[in-house]
Amino acid sequence: MADHPVLFLPGPTEVDDELRQIMAMPLLGHREPRFVAVVQDVCRRLRDLYLTRQATAFETCAATALMEAGIRNLVPRGGRSLHLVCGAFSERWQKIAQLCGRDAEALTVPPGQAHPPALLRARLQQGPPVQAVVVTHNETATGVLEPLRELAATVHAHAPDALLLVDVVTSVGGAELRFDDWGLDFAFAGTQKCLALPPGLCTYAVSRRALARAATIEERGFLLDLPRAVADTDAGKTLATPCVPLVYALQRQLERVAAEGLPQRWARHLALRDATLAWAAARGMRPFVGDEAARSPTVSCIDARGGDVEALARRADAAGYRIDEGYGELKGRAFRIGHMGDHPLARLRALLAAL
Ligand SMILES: Cc1ncc(COP(=O)(O)O)c(C=O)c1O
Repeated sequence: MADHPVLFLPGPTEVDDELRQIMAMPLLGHREPRFVAVVQDVCRRLRDLYLTRQATAFETCAATALMEAGIRNLVPRGGRSLHLVCGAFSERWQKIAQLCGRDAEALTVPPGQAHPPALLRARLQQGPPVQAVVVTHNETATGVLEPLRELAATVHAHAPDALLLVDVVTSVGGAELRFDDWGLDFAFAGTQKCLALPPGLCTYAVSRRALARAATIEERGFLLDLPRAVADTDAGKTLATPCVPLVYALQRQLERVAAEGLPQRWARHLALRDATLAWAAARGMRPFVGDEAARSPTVSCIDARGGDVEALARRADAAGYRIDEGYGELKGRAFRIGHMGDHPLARLRALLAAL
């Protein structure tokens, strides 16, 4: 048994010894040439993670700050954003857009369901024009993976001028994501999810056309003024003081992700999901998400069917693991197993055996 509870939460996720030791290294000043070179290297490596040749950067903040930055930089005041809402996190982004004074329209499907591209197509063909379509690739609250490639193609075909803003918080590094091939404009994720690092940094990618759009929009804010932030970070010079130890660890982790290989990493996450769902099925439990194609590779939300979720979580605790007792309205009704990050299949199997 590990010397601490092993996290199978949908974030923060388990951080291994090597990465924790890197964070204990002596600090560098963030303006020292050695550290500037690390920041530049991280920006370059992030392009391989997002599969983009466009801009990538990071900031010391929670992912929610990037939701706000996306709206302030990419949707003009008085402009309309169309939010594909299917759970708590996609709903949060819509609320943020409203609080930023934008006309934030929701295209809502019931929790546990993904958006059929035809639904989006019908809305884009019939409703008022939108400046941005906003998608949560992996809705962590319910374990829904949106069909992002198809949704993106729908936006390009029916609203070619709309920017595509995507929360990839619990998908990048765990589920297939191709920023350039799929024509995304803005995507971001915190380090505490599929990258298996502590919370504290948020990585992001922005398209050239999004940066050009941002340049025409006023009141973009200060720290997360994207055109400036991208240029500074790419040059190794973050505006504010970054979380230096976490930047070292991110550099090493990006190296490790590249060594594993993205397709291999995506396949490992699918295998983790399949093992979790097979275990649940063998015990008469079903995932909250009905459509097989929409079942997340990084988090499974399992309907407890009246079973005692608290007791299950206690059993996990006693065996040295943490699982989640359900999010929001699903608390106590469905439990979540976060199978994201660096977990090998054998470790997940040990958790399932203990449960
Ligand atoms: C899909 C999704 N978006 C956004 C967030 C918010 O991230 P943060 O807590 O880093 O702001 C989370 C956190 O779980 C999430 O799962």
